[in-house]
Amino acid sequence: MADSLEKLETERKTTTATIAHELRTPLTVLRGRIAALRDGVFEVSPSELTILLEQTELLARLAEDLRILSLADVGKLTLELSEVDFAALAKNVVASFETQAEAKHVRLEVCVPASANIRADEVRLRQVMSNLLDNALRFTPEGGRVRVRLETKPREIILEIHDNGEGIAAEDLPHVFDRFYKSDDNKSGSGLGLAIVKSLVALHGGKVSAANHAEGGAVFQVVLLIRGDLHL
Ligand SMILES: Nc1ncnc2c1ncn2[C@@H]1O[C@H](COP(=O)(O)OP(=O)(O)OP(=O)(O)O)[C@@H](O)[C@H]1O
Ligand SMILES: [Mg+2]
Repeated sequence: MADSLEKLETERKTTTATIAHELRTPLTVLRGRIAALRDGVFEVSPSELTILLEQTELLARLAEDLRILSLADVGKLTLELSEVDFAALAKNVVASFETQAEAKHVRLEVCVPASANIRADEVRLRQVMSNLLDNALRFTPEGGRVRVRLETKPREIILEIHDNGEGIAAEDLPHVFDRFYKSDDNKSGSGLGLAIVKSLVALHGGKVSAANHAEGGAVFQVVLLIRGDLHL
């Protein structure tokens, strides 16, 4: 008992230290550039303001991600359920990534049935897909491709997002859904995206897994029961 309390306390301290670390980078950039603008080192220009805005957006996203995870921790993240056509939603989310994909010359392939109705929280489902697609695009090299496939079975809907990047190192695979777990390269963000995916999928009574595909690249699979037990 004392041991597990001590472990919890260590985890809490580590998390706080990690959050502080994640906040520091955008704050340092903001502080440095705003001071430089004030001192006339740079001219105020749309491109300079875009850099400042990007850093504030990063901070806003971090705050929102942390809010979702702490609500999930205390069982207060609730779903707004409705009848959702996952096929239409999937096409729509993929379309919202088109510009990003084109900029990198990455082909987005979509294979979805005519419809795939499920009782789910549309906003949260969109977030699950967006987080997975965001990763797939970031970890796919220029000229690559990302495949999005939706399959309906009598009792479940399976979403698969398969990229043709480098895949995930064997030692990283068991940890990619852990909070703040990320690779040490400049492609990574805060390491919260997949932790949020896992929480949201679990809240829907589903499962998410990561693997390396036989043809290369990473593949993420989300399985949602069409009439699953929803933990609300
Ligand atoms: N498609 C992928 N290919 C290769 N590695 C991946 C892929 N998706 C995730 N990973 C690995 O898993 C780590 C965790 O992903 P996660 O989405 O949680 O964090 P992130 O993308 O680094 O940051 P955030 O999502 O918070 O902006 C990534 O840093 C990367 O190492
Ligand atoms: Mg991510």
